Amino acid sequence: MNTNFPREYATLRHRALRRARKALVIGATGILAAAGVISFSAPASAASTLGASAAAKGRYFGSAVAAGHLGESQYASTLDTEFNAVTPENEMKWDAVESTRNSFNFGSADQIVSHAQGKGMKVRGHTLVWYSQLPGWVGGLSAGDLRSAMNNHITKVMQHYQGKIYAWDVVNEAFQDGSSGARRSSPFQDKLGNGYIEEAFRTARAADSGAKLCYNDYNTDGVNAKSDAVYAMVKDFKARGVPIDCVGFQSHFNSQSPVPSDYRANLQRFADLGVDVQITELDIEGSGSAQATSYGNVVTACLNVTRCTGMTVWGVTDKYSWRSSGTPLLFDSNYAKKPAYATVLSTLGGSGSGSGGGGSTGGSGATCTTTYTRTASWSDRYNGQVTVTAGNSAISDWAVQVTLASPQKVSTTWSGSPSWDSSGNVMTMKPNGNGSLATGASTSFGFTVMTNGSPAVPTVGSCTAS
Ligand code: XIL
Repeated sequence: MNTNFPREYATLRHRALRRARKALVIGATGILAAAGVISFSAPASAASTLGASAAAKGRYFGSAVAAGHLGESQYASTLDTEFNAVTPENEMKWDAVESTRNSFNFGSADQIVSHAQGKGMKVRGHTLVWYSQLPGWVGGLSAGDLRSAMNNHITKVMQHYQGKIYAWDVVNEAFQDGSSGARRSSPFQDKLGNGYIEEAFRTARAADSGAKLCYNDYNTDGVNAKSDAVYAMVKDFKARGVPIDCVGFQSHFNSQSPVPSDYRANLQRFADLGVDVQITELDIEGSGSAQATSYGNVVTACLNVTRCTGMTVWGVTDKYSWRSSGTPLLFDSNYAKKPAYATVLSTLGGSGSGSGGGGSTGGSGATCTTTYTRTASWSDRYNGQVTVTAGNSAISDWAVQVTLASPQKVSTTWSGSPSWDSSGNVMTMKPNGNGSLATGASTSFGFTVMTNGSPAVPTVGSCTAS
């Protein structure tokens, strides 16, 4: 069970927070091939980016963004190409916008918001009331003064961004880890009592009635004592008409705190209270197919909950992740797409070249390229299609290697002639008969993969032509 925040992780988190504080004191048809060629309808063009694929499913796919990196061209181009939502990673926190009482500085946050607006991206506001990254002066106030400072902060910040924010994390991390279900000690909790959360939400609604108002926390991703406590609060708010529209699940995972098996069920029970749910700070330490599988499970869970309106990963690249050493994101530190990227994209129903795929080789000017598309999915299997396209000259033969992540297995193929390596995981597909293709012409082959529980995408290797 995921009731306790892993100590190692807690230390890491504590260190990261300390660093920040210092820095900021500043076929559905179901046909299985009987034999030979199946004709199947591939989507004309499945979306090929995370944002567009998520949008096709009625969701957003966002990233945390740091204003300081927007000037780096690869950072900005990866963000702009792949994502359709952003969350300022630190720039909207209390210490960033109001380090001195009632003197607001929106410079860095404005940079992110205007970048996002220029690209038509949604913005999640993060965060208004939180015990961390809180300037010292707040802790020194008397109860009455603190109440007015909190309400003033919420009001001024929300009004500054009125009409520009999709959802605000009004209150962040108000509950303790572990089995107590208690509220976490903070200046707000200690001086104002439980009622501060309700007051913050009421003030937020009055400040900007157009933004969705969320409660956001970590270690609430599965059903456990902490998520039970948040659940009880949200249920009470809904019953009494306290304005709340959404609950954010941070979803920072690693081997000590893996994706819980009841993740979807937990999202669903909150959604059933009549709020949207969002995955707000997703990152999963690890690498390769294990990391990819976990990412796939998270995306599948969100897609299986109607009121899960979107997902945000906590950074664009491993290079700038707050947990960089755990390489928890979808792009590596050189901005290369990781296996987890491919799994997220295909789970969202998008298509692109599998990791390492899409290239072309071949002697004497004969070249070919491939594109991979998942054309249909069922609970236990999916159909993949590879389209082979001749390069700048006609070709008479081609071969493409498709590597499956164990325990996945191909059960059927069509429109090609396969052979297998000894592991049974690497399929080399050659033409079924004549392999001639005119310059720029294409042909496709397909296969059904039994997932055996793994959501991984196949790796389509380079295409060899002669
Ligand atoms: C983290 C940022 O990623 C770091 O850059 C900063 O040093 C500390 O805060 N929960 C949250 C986020 O709600 O705001 C935190 O972001 C990560 C944990």
